[in-house]
Amino acid sequence: MGYRVAVVGATGNVGREMMTILEELRFPVDEIFAIASRKSVGVEVNYGERTLRCRDIETFDFSAVDLVLMSAGGEASRAWSERIGRAGPIVIDNSSAFRMDPDVPLIVPEVNPDAADLARRKNIVANPNCSTAQLVVALKPLHDAVPIKRAVVSTYQSVSGAGKAAMDELWDQTKGVFVLGPKDPDVFPKQIAFNLIPCIGDFRDDGYTTEEAKMWKETHKMLDPAIALTVTCVRVPVFVGHAECVNLEFDGPLDADEAREILREAPGVVVVDKHDAEEGYVTPVECVGEFGVFVSRIRKDPTVEHGLNLWVVSDNLRKGAALNAVQIAQLLDERGILRERAAA
Ligand SMILES: NC(=O)c1ccc[n+]([C@@H]2O[C@H](COP(=O)([O-])OP(=O)(O)OC[C@H]3O[C@@H](n4cnc5c(N)ncnc54)[C@H](OP(=O)(O)O)[C@@H]3O)[C@@H](O)[C@H]2O)c1
Repeated sequence: MGYRVAVVGATGNVGREMMTILEELRFPVDEIFAIASRKSVGVEVNYGERTLRCRDIETFDFSAVDLVLMSAGGEASRAWSERIGRAGPIVIDNSSAFRMDPDVPLIVPEVNPDAADLARRKNIVANPNCSTAQLVVALKPLHDAVPIKRAVVSTYQSVSGAGKAAMDELWDQTKGVFVLGPKDPDVFPKQIAFNLIPCIGDFRDDGYTTEEAKMWKETHKMLDPAIALTVTCVRVPVFVGHAECVNLEFDGPLDADEAREILREAPGVVVVDKHDAEEGYVTPVECVGEFGVFVSRIRKDPTVEHGLNLWVVSDNLRKGAALNAVQIAQLLDERGILRERAAA
């Protein structure tokens, strides 16, 4: 027997990807509902061979489903997720609204699956920020082998991380520069076409951005608060796929060959690492549509006693959002938590 599933934000980047991944992973779905805002009522979205018509979040009866994959932004999550959880189903929430709530587990199944038990508290599980998700998948197996003392991370984040309007802005500006004349930025604070923007989210009083703070707070919650983590997040003119330069300092010795072997065995990680300019590493364009977190350029940092550098790339709409959400649903199914809710 399968589950009754609602995807909220079904017209968005992540919502559409969720529909695809539910089908690709053959998640046991008996009934599925596509939900978005009132303006999208009747809009068609695909679920495998089927076409679903979107319904309005305001009028949908959430007590009629077992699982809600929520991907409609922070404001909608703050307004709806707790209410939906109280109506019965488990909500897997993609926004940042509940990630730091002590009564809500924040889960990457390869990293902290045992946090799933806490899902019963509010019927909500939070899905991490896209850049954090791929980072912790790569860090966890190394940290288990030799504790990581300090990590310095620089991100190169694609525009799809900011939603479908952001992808349109990159497309329009790119055409504009060559053909139609310059177009003022709307979604991003500055021109993104042929440019880089070292500001994702809002500035905090300490000079970091909210996106940067999410990365260290979420890593501390899921992996280990003892890891000193400093981050710079940069938006780049790439449509899909986030990349990260990761500099690690360990408590003890771990050489590049050992790290490569550990990562090759690690769940969710794909190592592509040769000294070959064409075949030896993975770029964002190559990770689109893939499930893995790709790790390349594994090499010693000779400037510290026990240091390594890595290049980490993943499809932000998949492991960074929709794939991780469906994997959380699979975890809740395996642990009987989803079945309990469905029976109730
Ligand atoms: N993109 C990523 O890499 C990524 C990674 C991790 C987490 N997330 C999070 O996932 C969420 C969605 O991101 P996205 O990239 O899919 O954004 P998006 O492409 O802009 O899509 C937003 C979706 O939310 C719906 N929506 C907005 N306000 C709503 C409301 N009040 N009630 C019901 N539906 C509403 C929209 O429906 P309409 O079309 O009807 O407006 C649309 O389906 C965000 O919280 C984001 O932070 C994204």
